[in-house]
Amino acid sequence: MNIFDLTGKTAVVTGGGRGLGLGMARALCEAGARVVMIGSSKSVLSAAEKLRARGFEAYGLQGDLSRTEKLPELFAQAVEPLGGRLDILVNNAGVQRRNKCEDFLINDWEAVLQVNLTAVFRLCQLAGRKMLEQGGGKIINLASMLSYFGGYTVPAYAASKGGVAQLTKALSNEWAGRGIQVNAIAPGYMATDMNEALIRDEGRSREILGRIPAGRWGTPEDMKGIVVFLASGASDYISGAVIPVDGGYLGK
Ligand SMILES: NC(=O)c1ccc[n+]([C@@H]2O[C@H](COP(=O)([O-])OP(=O)(O)OC[C@H]3O[C@@H](n4cnc5c(N)ncnc54)[C@H](O)[C@@H]3O)[C@@H](O)[C@H]2O)c1
Repeated sequence: MNIFDLTGKTAVVTGGGRGLGLGMARALCEAGARVVMIGSSKSVLSAAEKLRARGFEAYGLQGDLSRTEKLPELFAQAVEPLGGRLDILVNNAGVQRRNKCEDFLINDWEAVLQVNLTAVFRLCQLAGRKMLEQGGGKIINLASMLSYFGGYTVPAYAASKGGVAQLTKALSNEWAGRGIQVNAIAPGYMATDMNEALIRDEGRSREILGRIPAGRWGTPEDMKGIVVFLASGASDYISGAVIPVDGGYLGK
């Protein structure tokens, strides 16, 4: 069905070098988009190279999203290989810090909020201005089950992801009438590097799995359909939504 076709579209995926971001960058390429992946380590460059070897137009860009003042420059660098046009922004990069609330360090709080919320807002703003000029676009933010729940030992992450869900709605309210759909994906428990500690903790891991009706952890492959849907014309009347991709976890 060509309503999902992204041929000729341009996309930026933050944290696109591994995990869920890489799965989504790959999916956008497969649907026809030209993609720039931003990552904090050099591995984003080799991840993009692998996609190019498969015939896709993908570029890697190393940059640190926690440096708020540098974000306009990083954004300009990201859209350059795309000819300055941006149709799709996927705010996927995120970090996690774990500690009991009473011991949680303010530095960890700030590190998490900076990448998971402040950079998301700033990139939405930079992309939004461009998309308003262009007459439209798609913004896809990464929320979480912790946009709904408080979790344990992850106060900064829960606060940041609750913020991402609300920010998505706030931006949608102002921009949906001007051609920009702003939505969020809330992944359930996905087997990626970010969850290494949870997966290693046998008790927690068993408890989590026991609550997932699908009977398995999610994978980067599970993100492909939703990201192409939200990036394409198929979702033109969907905005301000936070869509769970969780194997049924929330419903239990
Ligand atoms: N894995 C899960 O179960 C899960 C569940 C819900 C939401 N999420 C969210 O999905 C997104 C991706 O998660 P993942 O599991 O693939 O994580 P991951 O740890 O595997 O990857 C995170 C990516 O973010 C990038 N990144 C982190 N800090 C950065 C910085 N300062 N500058 C530039 N890039 C930076 C890293 O380079 C990496 O590519 C995150 O926003 C995460 O919060 C994940």
